[in-house]
This record gives sequence, C-alpha cells and structure tokens, in this order.
Amino acid sequence: MSALSKIAVLGAGNIGGSLAQRLAEADLAREVVLIDIVDGLPQGKALDIQESAPILEFSTRVTGSTSLDALAGADVVVETAGLARKPGMSRSDLLEKNAAIVKAHAQAVRTTAPNAICVVVTNPVDVMTYYFRKVSGLPTTHVFGESGTLDTARFRTFVAEALHVAPRDVTGFVLGTHGDTMVPLLSLTSVAGVPLSRLLPADRLAQLVERTKQGGGEIVNLLKTGSAFYAPSASQAELVRAIAQDEHRLLPASAYVDGEFGERDVYIGVPVVLGRQGVERVVPVDLSAAEQTAFRASVAAVRSDLAILARLPD
Ligand code: LAC
Repeated sequence: MSALSKIAVLGAGNIGGSLAQRLAEADLAREVVLIDIVDGLPQGKALDIQESAPILEFSTRVTGSTSLDALAGADVVVETAGLARKPGMSRSDLLEKNAAIVKAHAQAVRTTAPNAICVVVTNPVDVMTYYFRKVSGLPTTHVFGESGTLDTARFRTFVAEALHVAPRDVTGFVLGTHGDTMVPLLSLTSVAGVPLSRLLPADRLAQLVERTKQGGGEIVNLLKTGSAFYAPSASQAELVRAIAQDEHRLLPASAYVDGEFGERDVYIGVPVVLGRQGVERVVPVDLSAAEQTAFRASVAAVRSDLAILARLPD
C-alpha cells in the first residue's frame, strides 16, 4: 500500500523523467504526475513509463500535464524545472532564468498544494530552495533542497572504486553548498565503520575530494548538451522515499539553518533527519577548524548568489 496519494514532479526534462520512472517503480504513491510547459513532453514520458507497469509490476498511476493545476492534492512536490548547465557554465550562471521558473512554481504551490513537502533540485540549488520557500510561504521544515545526497553518492562511488569495495559499504557526508565550495567531511567518512584515513593516504584522499567537487562538471563535459540525471534522480528518489515511508533518515540535504552550524537565514547542505513531516531537525556535528572554515566559505558563496537574486527585478 503506497504511503502517499500523489507526488508531483515539476519539469519533465531528463531529471524529471528519470525521477518519475524511479518513483513509479518504487510504488511510493498512488499517482505520480509529471508537469511541464512543453505540450506532449510530460504526457508522452508519463505514458511511456506507465506502459512499463505490467513488466515492472508497479501500481502507481503515472500521468502528465501542462497545467500547474495538476499540483492539487500533491503530498510531495519535486521542483526539477529549469535550465541545466552546458560546458563552461557554473551553476550560478543559471540563477536569473531559473529564478523566474521557480517563482511561478512556488506561487502555484502556495495556492494549490500548500501542505506539500517540497524538494527543490533546480540549480543553483541552495539559492533556489531559499527562493522557493520564501515565495511559497511554506514552513521551512516543508521545503528543502537536494544536494548532499548526490555529492555524497559521487564521493562514495570514487572511494569504493579506489578501494575495490562495495559502494554501499562506504558512508559519508558532503556538506555546504552544491558547488565548487562543497565540504566533503573526511572525518565522517568510513567503510563499514573503518575510518577512511586508515585506508587511503592523504594525497589520494585529496584527489577523490577534488573529483567529487567537480563531479557535476565532469558529467557536463562528457555529455556536452546537458547535465547529469541518473545519479541526481536516484538521490532525489532516496529523499522522497524517506518522506513517503516516514523513515527518519539521517541524510545531507540543503536545509534552512537558524543558528545551527553558526549560520542563520540561509539554505545550506547540512545533516538532517527526514520523515513524513519533512525536515524533522538539523543534526549538529562538530567540524574541525579546517572544515569550519570551508563551511563558512561555502555559506558565503550562497549568500553572494542570494544578494544577486535580491537585486533581480520583480
Ligand atoms: C549535478 C547537477 C545536477 O551536480 O547539479 O550533476
């Protein structure tokens, strides 16, 4: 029996389509609706996914719509709409165009799905999550961004490859912003409990950290026409599952901090507990002096984008 009645996915691009497929296959809701302004795209992808149900044995109904009215009744909304990076672009280069899209969607959520838990994915994600929350007027617990689960998955993958161990046995945290100043926490990364520092030399670890920071860009440079979507949609599905099944998962996400980690009034990647009510709490962890410095720089980068956003015309 599905825990949720409806999940709405805004944006039927590569991420939205891949996410709708993962959500349907996991049977997390009675209905998954894909919403996009390009007529035919959400309907076509939804029908295509729906037609896989007999083979994959899921019960979720998958629908597509060009109308934001389809948000009505959504328990969870995932905002994936917006432009993706092309080679040479930073996530911040997308700010102005994506802000206009996020604004319209947040306004629609405010009137049509005010009780939904909202996961924002649109880049630059920490800034767009702040903006979505503000425009929607929803409680900060009900709006958070996906960043750290993806960055952490990349870090875990690279560590697993380097050590020839199962990726799922590597756990860890990447905090801070979803950008060049993200903060992989080596002190909290282990392989089945064995600290990473005992398994890999410092210079090798530094290489893995650097590759993680550039992980999104590495895919953009390979694809040339857009950015990653398989690992991003897997990360988002993990967050939606935590909500749908009220799992109380301890995961990194872009959450509103109000004094935690020494910061206020900003969305930034921190460890949170996620369940049916959204962000149940931010979990404070002690950072080393170097991690603290890196985290502050990460917050400063988000604040500088927030200042640009504040100067955009209404
Ligand atoms: C990435 C984009 C989705 O990191 O931000 O791949």
